[in-house]
Amino acid sequence: MSSWTEKEEPTLTALLSRMTLEEKIGQLVQLPPKGDFLDHELKTLIEKGHVGSFLNISDPEQIKEAQEISLRKSRLKIPLLFAFDVLHGFKTLFPIPLALASSMDPSLVEKVARGSAQEARSYGIHWTFAPMLDITRDPRWGRVAECPGEDPYLASLLCAGWIKGFQGDALSSSSFLASCPKHFVGYGAVEGGRDYNSVNLSLKQLKEIYLVPFLEAFKTGSFSTMAAFVAINGLPPAANPNLLKDLLRKEIGFKGPVISDWNAVKELVHHGIAENEKEAVQIAINSGIDIDMASGLYLKYLKELVLEGKVQIDTIDQAVLRVLSLKHKLGLFSGRSSQMEPNKENLQAIIKTNRELALEAAINSVVLLKNENALLPLSPSIRTIALIGPFSTEQKEHLGPWPGIGDPQQVVSLAEGMKAHAPLGVKIAVARGCDFFTSSQEELRQALEMAKKAEVIIVAVGEKASMSGEAASRAFLELPKAQQKLIDILLQIGIPVIMVVFSGRPLDLSPFFYRVKGIIQAWFLGSETGNALGRILFGFSNPSGKLPMSFPRSVGQIPIYYSHLPTGRPSGWSIPSTGYLDQKISPLFPFGYGLSYTRFHYGFPTLNHTKIGLDDVLEVYVEIENSGEKAGEEIVQLYIRDAVASISRPLKELKGVKKIFLNPGEKQKLKFSLFPSDFAFVDFEGKRKIEGGRFFLWVGPNAVEGKKVQFELAW
Ligand code: NOJ
Repeated sequence: MSSWTEKEEPTLTALLSRMTLEEKIGQLVQLPPKGDFLDHELKTLIEKGHVGSFLNISDPEQIKEAQEISLRKSRLKIPLLFAFDVLHGFKTLFPIPLALASSMDPSLVEKVARGSAQEARSYGIHWTFAPMLDITRDPRWGRVAECPGEDPYLASLLCAGWIKGFQGDALSSSSFLASCPKHFVGYGAVEGGRDYNSVNLSLKQLKEIYLVPFLEAFKTGSFSTMAAFVAINGLPPAANPNLLKDLLRKEIGFKGPVISDWNAVKELVHHGIAENEKEAVQIAINSGIDIDMASGLYLKYLKELVLEGKVQIDTIDQAVLRVLSLKHKLGLFSGRSSQMEPNKENLQAIIKTNRELALEAAINSVVLLKNENALLPLSPSIRTIALIGPFSTEQKEHLGPWPGIGDPQQVVSLAEGMKAHAPLGVKIAVARGCDFFTSSQEELRQALEMAKKAEVIIVAVGEKASMSGEAASRAFLELPKAQQKLIDILLQIGIPVIMVVFSGRPLDLSPFFYRVKGIIQAWFLGSETGNALGRILFGFSNPSGKLPMSFPRSVGQIPIYYSHLPTGRPSGWSIPSTGYLDQKISPLFPFGYGLSYTRFHYGFPTLNHTKIGLDDVLEVYVEIENSGEKAGEEIVQLYIRDAVASISRPLKELKGVKKIFLNPGEKQKLKFSLFPSDFAFVDFEGKRKIEGGRFFLWVGPNAVEGKKVQFELAW
């Protein structure tokens, strides 16, 4: 393949100066494949240099062919860039992002991102549209599956892992991907949890909550970002220079390219912001959208707009330089074909390592929500187990939303995983009992007969993968009716029932919480689902995941999140108070919640100072003891509350997370360091400020429990 060689590697400005206007615009055009992809029209566009990148192509042969046309036949031989949504794996599927967030472990997230990058890059992909950093407090929104949850601190902690893992230290090596944190910024607050709906946020909320993980992503060195396609305070980012220019470029100083979301430029017409497609293009490029994803409208109208003087050539040049710079950072101009082309040389070894990693990640993503009388792990004295439910033998659904090119046949089902880990001689009888949405009398009868002979029933239920992810909002969060009926019937037998719940979001588990003996929240765990759950059910692994989102008792409680503000009439006071007549205000399971097969005892936190100044570091020490009988990991969480401030502050805010492993009887003293900036908040003008005064601090196992101390910030 002819291409630039290291010697002739161009300076980007020199390259820019040789480009025609059409070639420049081409770099700002990203297209999806057509039916048979390289049709005549697309081949011609590549040859002419009128397209700079493609998305959603995963066939290495097609990638190679397209790249060859660009490098052989186009005038300037500028390599193409191939992008893909590598959200939680490519060929090997890891737990969905919300599940992985339950591990609260940035180093695990980093390993997962690296493993995903290696697989994708070997297929010729250079750029992932990930991580998704939208903070979300509404489980009706299907895209919660793709996010790190409700909390900006946790999202920031994990986001650094994602960016480092995808991009590696040297982006130009041939096993990393450019990251693209998305969707800048506020998409997670869509009204009513309805996907694509409008967002209304104050500047204070935007900066204090939704922007926080993006700041961390940019600080960590993310190379690009994607603008949200929803309207935020009446303006989609593609039409909002205050967001993309003033905030992103000037205030934050972000230098990488900004890509629109799918068709977002065209949708400015639907939003009622642009009269027609041409005006949409004018608005989008002038607002700061460098690359037009999918709509093809930059290709159609941008030249005309430049010639008419409605778009300045400097605007185009700056955008093109950002795209070329991304290609350069990815090593695409280096002349080494391994950088550009698919290279499946080590793929088998990568996949092997990734399967091991997928198992580790899945185990760490599982959250144990209930375990009455320590029924779990299943005792070896239990000799007959009934595994029932539509997820018992399921493979495909475990790939979750955005399944990359994952092969369902390669997924270990729950039945397979349980059989592989059950003690010798234990009988596991398996029946689906019902389908995801329907059941027949015969299926139910068979399951019932089988269940009656067992000592314990594992019921594997939940949402289909397509019920979460994009365009998958739900107004009801209960299990599908057929599955509810199945559990009801099984509960009537009187044998202990343990629920294993698969979902891309917090579901409403209230109808069964008091009636089943155990609940395992399994999310969508990816390729190694069955093995991870088999290990956990039979006690080879001890669950340690903690919830990254609050689980509501009912849909009426939404939005629900732990860090809400105090009110003048707190719940629990005499009526009238901030509550419901017909529902508690507390969640069924709070943020940060998750059980273990062992017990952890938390000591009282001690502080190096009870009064700290602006130059001081607050050191917090706490001793954690494994007071149970099994070795296990615990995710220790530190929360603060600013007791009195000029603007009311949340009742709790997460400011520290540490994961520790302890053997039975073992103790460990942990140290957290907090800096004055950790106590800052955003005022109505969007400025961060620190105010002195009294603070509370808790260290505990979740957002509700924890031992409390007090300190003062004074200067
Ligand atoms: C639309 C989604 O909103 C975005 O997250 C994704 O990256 C693009 N489609 C491309 O698939």
